[in-house]
Amino acid sequence: MSPARVTPHENPLRDTRDKRLPRIAGPCSLVLFGVTGDLARKKLLPAIYDLANRGLLPPGFSLVGFARRDWEDQDFGKVVYEAVKEHARTPFRDEVWRSLSEGFRFVPGVFDDDAAFDLLAETVRELDEQRGTGGNHAFYLSIPPGSFSTVCEQLKRSGLTAGTEESWRRVVIEKPFGHDLSSAQELNEIVEAVFPPDSIFRIDHYLGKETVQNLLALRFANQMFEPVWNSHYVDHVQITMAEDIGIGGRAGYYDGIGAARDVIQNHLLQLLALTAMEEPTSFDADSLRAEKEKVLAAVRVPEDLAADTVRGQYAAGWQGGEKVTGYLQEDGVAADSTTETYAAMRLDVATRRWAGVPFYLRTGKRLGRRVTEIAVVFKRAPHLPFTDTETEELGQNAVVIRVQPDEGVTMRFGAKVPGNEMEVRDVTMDFGYGRAFTESSPEAYERLILDVLLGDPPLFPRHREVELSWRILDPIEEYWDRTGDVEQYPAGTWGPSAADAMMERDGRTWRLP
Ligand SMILES: NC(=O)c1ccc[n+]([C@@H]2O[C@H](COP(=O)([O-])OP(=O)(O)OC[C@H]3O[C@@H](n4cnc5c(N)ncnc54)[C@H](OP(=O)(O)O)[C@@H]3O)[C@@H](O)[C@H]2O)c1
Repeated sequence: MSPARVTPHENPLRDTRDKRLPRIAGPCSLVLFGVTGDLARKKLLPAIYDLANRGLLPPGFSLVGFARRDWEDQDFGKVVYEAVKEHARTPFRDEVWRSLSEGFRFVPGVFDDDAAFDLLAETVRELDEQRGTGGNHAFYLSIPPGSFSTVCEQLKRSGLTAGTEESWRRVVIEKPFGHDLSSAQELNEIVEAVFPPDSIFRIDHYLGKETVQNLLALRFANQMFEPVWNSHYVDHVQITMAEDIGIGGRAGYYDGIGAARDVIQNHLLQLLALTAMEEPTSFDADSLRAEKEKVLAAVRVPEDLAADTVRGQYAAGWQGGEKVTGYLQEDGVAADSTTETYAAMRLDVATRRWAGVPFYLRTGKRLGRRVTEIAVVFKRAPHLPFTDTETEELGQNAVVIRVQPDEGVTMRFGAKVPGNEMEVRDVTMDFGYGRAFTESSPEAYERLILDVLLGDPPLFPRHREVELSWRILDPIEEYWDRTGDVEQYPAGTWGPSAADAMMERDGRTWRLP
């Protein structure tokens, strides 16, 4: 009997829209707070231009910058121009720039200045009339989290949050979403007091990356992976985000936060959730987020925190042939700081699918090289009809999803070495996005900004996910605070020796990506 075929039409929950067709946002404006910041210059402003260049912004789209600078609209235009010239992904085209820059407005002011927000309200009303933005406005808070409440209250006071039946108002907030569970809850109360939950878009830019979305395609559009994606076949999973750079000029932000809060609470736990989740009934926001939440709720923090969590701090060393300074010698870092620049931990997922399969997470600065990947490492074959020497060089099979750089998927398996003798050795088979497709991948922020303007929320974590992630991290952070232990590792290496010891105790080793 042939298996029953389920067509999209049989599933009433399935959105049958042709998602290959480009979707263009309806009339709207984007108000950007923090236009003079690093993120705006390197990522957000270039992404807005790239969207315009790809024809994905509506006619009349307007961009309003708000900053404590004595600028006119044309000064703001110059700042955007420089950011675009330096960082845009797509080629510069005069006609696109001319049309986009007609919609630039600038409002000078500080966050606690009522008059500046009244002027902002007047400016967006004018845009509605002059450029047909239809009362649809997104407010992007690319600012320090300490200013979220002031800006939200100002938006409310000046009437900017009140949409109508026909129009929408949305707010975009950048990570970090709090410092621990209670501050995340407080932050959420502040934002939800002003915007309804479905108008709040929390950015975890990893979710906008093509390879992260490809994880869904790999798992759920194919037949060959899902049957082995469980504790019967998988030995363990390693999720790595390694950076080769130090903290740069960001000591003010980084010291006191550290690697676990900066990267594990959001990016790595999201990658874990996408790797471990069950198939959602559809890819709409509620279904996808519900599956991720089930995984996060099932994550178990190690009982032995001393053995199964590690933190480290980079010491002076060599990177790319240059001598680099240690964390404690960086400008703005206290000489006795115990903030970690490396964190690793073993987490377990208490579900039938993942019982007994550890998920090892690690992240760090000044490591051997820049790479983000998810490695699903399989158990050894239960029986090998070879002699020990014939398979001496055979490791464990693995599927490795490379998130950055050089996005793609690698499979590792054993193959016979050519020759008369039987010798089996590991080989890799590689799929690279850059080689397989002619289109280059959009930047994560292009996808996410467009999704905000379209009101499409699946790639934005909701508050429950943020809370569940802090519930995982809080006991670990509390333990680290109590012990104060942080091991130094030389810059340019793969982190503290305690991280290797953690793996060795489990009879495993970290991959050298
Ligand atoms: N940079 C990244 O790659 C990155 C990645 C993920 C998340 N984030 C998050 O994104 C946000 C922005 O990051 P960033 O790196 O761009 O920070 P940043 O370089 O420190 O910029 C902060 C921006 O906020 C403005 N600002 C601060 N206080 C203000 C006030 N009282 N009134 C008016 N403007 C004020 C600053 O204006 P002035 O120029 O006048 O000081 C600046 O434009 C932060 O929440 C950060 O955590 C950043």
